Amino acid sequence: MQTMIVRRFRAGLTLLGIGVGACHHATTSSAPPDSRAISAHFPAHFPVDWRFKAGESGTVAPTAVVASNSALASAAGDEIMRGDGNAVDAAVATGFALAVTFPFAGNLGGGGYMVIRMADGRTAAVDYREIAPLAASRDMYLGPDGKMTDESVVGYRASGVPGAVAGMSAALARYGTKSLREVLQPAIRLADEGFVVDSVLFTSLDHSRDYLERFDGKTVFYPNGEPLQPGTRFRQPALARTLRLIAEQGQDAFYKGEVGDSLVAGMKRGGGIITKEDLARYKPEWRQPIASTYHGYKLFTMPPSSSGGVTITEALNILETFDSLPPFGSVGYTHALASAYQRAFIDRNSKLGDAAFVHVPLDKLTSKSYARELRKTILPGRASATPALERTITDGNHTTHYSVVDGAGNAVATTTTINNGYGSGVYLTGPGFFMNDEMDDFAAQPGKPNMFGLVQGEQNAIAPGKRMLSAMSPTIVLDPQGKLLLVVGAAGGPRIITATSQVILNVIQNHMTLADAMRAPRLHHQALPDTLRFEEHGLTPAVADSLKAMGWRLDPVRGSANVNAIMRAASGWVAVTEPRDRGPSRAVGH
Ligand code: DON
Repeated sequence: MQTMIVRRFRAGLTLLGIGVGACHHATTSSAPPDSRAISAHFPAHFPVDWRFKAGESGTVAPTAVVASNSALASAAGDEIMRGDGNAVDAAVATGFALAVTFPFAGNLGGGGYMVIRMADGRTAAVDYREIAPLAASRDMYLGPDGKMTDESVVGYRASGVPGAVAGMSAALARYGTKSLREVLQPAIRLADEGFVVDSVLFTSLDHSRDYLERFDGKTVFYPNGEPLQPGTRFRQPALARTLRLIAEQGQDAFYKGEVGDSLVAGMKRGGGIITKEDLARYKPEWRQPIASTYHGYKLFTMPPSSSGGVTITEALNILETFDSLPPFGSVGYTHALASAYQRAFIDRNSKLGDAAFVHVPLDKLTSKSYARELRKTILPGRASATPALERTITDGNHTTHYSVVDGAGNAVATTTTINNGYGSGVYLTGPGFFMNDEMDDFAAQPGKPNMFGLVQGEQNAIAPGKRMLSAMSPTIVLDPQGKLLLVVGAAGGPRIITATSQVILNVIQNHMTLADAMRAPRLHHQALPDTLRFEEHGLTPAVADSLKAMGWRLDPVRGSANVNAIMRAASGWVAVTEPRDRGPSRAVGH
């Protein structure tokens, strides 16, 4: 069963460019980064066999733009900004539209995070992560033999209490200019009138057939026993009704009203544990973004309950201790990045959790002095084994990211998820959406790997009402002059952290254009498994051989995370959606 889930999961992710699992030198000078990142890009050089060519361009928009995993959802956000809405209005419109056009990632049945920076300098973060239901318990996913079952991934018991509707409503009320009713119109229209199914949705449903057909989505997504056919129109009347109820009654329709009743009844029929009380108690949390710096650039990113911001900050702080990083793609560069990620993930996996339940040493982990300590553990020319490092350092699919900027320079980075593709597989025919399987982001059995192979500790054990640790990393970067530079984030489990930070590094450290920064080969290290994953042909054979000789266990993989980013350009904005994604990702702006 577990194997089947993982196989199906990987197949779905591959479509979106999210695979699973020496003489190339010199893109850049090794000088510390400066604000030339915008005015003077250096030509990028990728290994000869690498799948992308350097020098491509992105979507240029003079005024405002949305980059998301669905052209229709980006257009929904753009429509709202053309009608004088700001970036927050557009982000919420895009989020609800994605719930219609991108069922792979939900998202009404899931949760997420939004980082906001207004042009007047205000910053904010909304945590609308799911929480464990009140009836959840620490060992609920252990079988009688003490081994983990697959119930945290698939079926009715895998879901946390959804936060998306509450989170998007809260962001809109505080920073938007339009009503929920107004920003919901494009999503309602898309659900009512339908949209044309493309081959990517068809193939993804085809791959997910044995996962989804066991639940009630069978009739909706496999009419006549076959996946929705490319070229046909897919209408979602139940979802349209849900969206209309939210437009009319606000979030109460979901948490205290008809939508919630229908959700609870649907979950109960299948043996789920989410109750009306769970829904009524759900609250999004306003948080201070983590504010950090990298060579004078300022980053605003997501604090716990996501691990994303802490881990990116810790890794970049370690890299900043190098006076000059070796050139992109070289042995030294790869060694430095992999070592930084390995250390940051050891802390992530053992020290982070929901701060309302466990103590999280946030100040220490994000401090420059701690990074200097960690730097001392990096041996020149030699990999360190994770278990030995753990003793030194420790004391004692599916998701979607969208980035938005408006004409005033307000910026929103949002990542939202129902965890893996189509969440728990459970589609509720009443309200018309998929439920998440976010409970698998907890350490269902501390010390044992979850679906992403993450080995996490007690800090992230299950408790009722607790938020499960996330890797989502919506991030906004300002240049040293304080001007908005980048809006970025990703889908892809723990690779969200490494991919998001590498796009940032490629821009500000390696002086790449955003198009090259997104196309550059990526690497990933999450402490355990103790392997350095790199994208096939993303390292030259000579660099790979040298790294092996240094003791790195190399694991070539196809695909990385799915990043959607926007960067300031001389002529306005340039937006780039994930080049590895064969789906309908697109930036739309004006
Ligand atoms: O919150 C997290 O870290 C995960 N639930 C994200 C899952 C994900 O990105 C899967 N998508 N590809």
